[in-house]
Amino acid sequence: MGIVVLTMKASVIEMFLVLLVTGIHSHKEMAKKSKRPKFTVPQINCDVKAGKITNLEFIVKCPAGCQESKYHVYGTGVYASCSSVCGAAVHSGVLDNSGGKILVQKVAGQSGYKGSYSNGVRSLSLPRWRESFIVSESQPKKGVTYPSTLTYSSSKTPAAKADETTKAYQKPSVPGTTAQPVTLMQVSADQEAEAAHTTWAKSSLLAPSSSSSPRPQPMGRRSWDTGETDLQKPQPALLDTGFLPKEELSTQALEPVSQGDPNCQVDLLFLIDGSSSIGKRRFRLQKQFLANVVQALDIGPSGPLMGVVQYGDSPATQFNLKTHMNSRDLTAAIEKITLRGGLSNAGGAISFVTKNFFSKANGNRSGAPNVAVVVLDGWPTDKVEEASRLARESGINIFFITIEAAIENEKQYVVEPNFANKAVCRTNGYYSFNVQSWFSLRKTMQPLVKRICDTDRLACSKTCLNSADIGFVIDGSSSVGTGNFRTVLQFVANLSKEFEISDTDTRIGAVQYTYEQRLEFGFDKYHTKADVLNAIKSVGYWSGGTSTGAAIHYALEQLFKKSKPNKRKLMILITDGRSYDDVRIAAMAAHQKGVITYAVGVAWAAQDELDIIATHPARDHSFFVDEFDNLYKSVPKIIQNICTEFNSQPRN
Ligand SMILES: *[C@@H]1O[C@H](CO)[C@@H](O)[C@H](O)[C@H]1NC(C)=O
Ligand SMILES: *[C@@H]1O[C@H](CO)[C@@H](O)[C@H](O)[C@H]1NC(C)=O
Repeated sequence: MGIVVLTMKASVIEMFLVLLVTGIHSHKEMAKKSKRPKFTVPQINCDVKAGKITNLEFIVKCPAGCQESKYHVYGTGVYASCSSVCGAAVHSGVLDNSGGKILVQKVAGQSGYKGSYSNGVRSLSLPRWRESFIVSESQPKKGVTYPSTLTYSSSKTPAAKADETTKAYQKPSVPGTTAQPVTLMQVSADQEAEAAHTTWAKSSLLAPSSSSSPRPQPMGRRSWDTGETDLQKPQPALLDTGFLPKEELSTQALEPVSQGDPNCQVDLLFLIDGSSSIGKRRFRLQKQFLANVVQALDIGPSGPLMGVVQYGDSPATQFNLKTHMNSRDLTAAIEKITLRGGLSNAGGAISFVTKNFFSKANGNRSGAPNVAVVVLDGWPTDKVEEASRLARESGINIFFITIEAAIENEKQYVVEPNFANKAVCRTNGYYSFNVQSWFSLRKTMQPLVKRICDTDRLACSKTCLNSADIGFVIDGSSSVGTGNFRTVLQFVANLSKEFEISDTDTRIGAVQYTYEQRLEFGFDKYHTKADVLNAIKSVGYWSGGTSTGAAIHYALEQLFKKSKPNKRKLMILITDGRSYDDVRIAAMAAHQKGVITYAVGVAWAAQDELDIIATHPARDHSFFVDEFDNLYKSVPKIIQNICTEFNSQPRN
């Protein structure tokens, strides 16, 4: 909890202050009404999300029938506040489908809400949210007064009092923002929190030079479910022409060349569709879209840099990251791009990008995340899923914008159904946009720009390599021998090297065993790849018997018990012989605790035992090599299987 609080965004803290104010306020309200004879429990519908209610702690009554899948729930135990309150209560087992009273408590936002299936409700995973809540049975705590009317963050809900809502969402900490009650009341708690977050992180984007001019009304609406986000400052006029309004353009022309928006340091590539079928007219709309993005981004050496690759039959780099290093030059260069023609080989183009584009020679900067936005007319003529996975694993954050996707009777032509969702990270459409028509593409511009620049959330590239606690269980028995033991350590190091290692990414731990077991280092001992590799190298060979079952038990106790709840738990056990004790019960315990277990056997290792230790299906988790010198061969296969398993988990 301490860590969570420490890492809370300023915006979230702000949100809490705001909630606190509301809390105090409704407290007063309560005091006024204290003559009321008894506390009546407020009632809500199944679809009410916790984020809509601003009270920090309350008892509510849920109706029957909240088990339905249409009420979205995110998380397990601790739920993101964009979840249905009653749905979460059913999921957590506090409530059954016949409804009843529950106690709800708001807690800090988290990263890594884990989805699960429980009590008839499937909850979804979510990488991060700004506020959470927990539900429990409605045992009122002594000394706590529970509100008998709830405060809602939207004026549309009749129960919410207009003045309360306004007060709650004034943001004194945002400079230059005069409170606009009417506007503010049109946004829900979630939307407002999002706006607050964005304003804090990206003030340059959302408070453009023309901040003195009144904001157009109404404010952008945001619908979480579709992932569509309109920016706070809609610019209908300029969007029509595709360029900034004249007065903004002319002031820009007088300014010295921009160094770029320092809050958006990304190396960005647009992979644009140059197939024959797109036609000249749509191609022009595509270029206009790019120009809009460029204007919104404020390109420069200290901000975002952008290149363009056009694909048809084959891909070609139009210009790389350092060819044009300001918005004006880029806009001119985009205007000059001509249509290549051919098929729509997006997959080949993505592979090309993975191999060639983000090189140092092309202007790739260390420290700036790599982002590739794939623009696609209809559907690709080759496969994109695998190419995208490899791109993501090489660290490229992939966005897909599909325009005029295949309609029902065209779906037969699509090589990989649902490709756009499978090609990107599994995060509720955060990385993919589905656009109805080329004429509505411009609406995608602002949300896209916002996501590209939200570098904190661009953590999903190497997904399968950055979210695990990996415990190695190393056989140090006498039969291994000193030389081979070094090879085993090299193997452990080679596997570890593949992962992003840090406190928040993957963590590594190791246990060595003979008859006995010892903890070489736990998950929280080392925080960098260099330290982990050093620690592996320094493991001393023990020599003794082989009690593999006991070693697994020991690893569960000493390593995995201290694993973080939102991490995948992976155990990689390496042994060269049959165990002296039974491995069955230990293996079962590991599987039951959700530890994905890989068994790697060398020389005299028993295949049947490896298969018992390994997570099902054994063919994906059990490996055997005849000699230590061949261990290296299984490294890529193990890594690939870890990633395949990660990517094939149910998509949200
Ligand atoms: C480009 O830079 C990023 C860091 O910003 C780095 O992770 C990546 O490996 C680099 N790519 C190449 C091909 O050098
Ligand atoms: C580990 O990687 C090094 C360098 O790539 C390679 O030479 C060695 O054979 C590998 N060893 C094992 C056991 O994987």
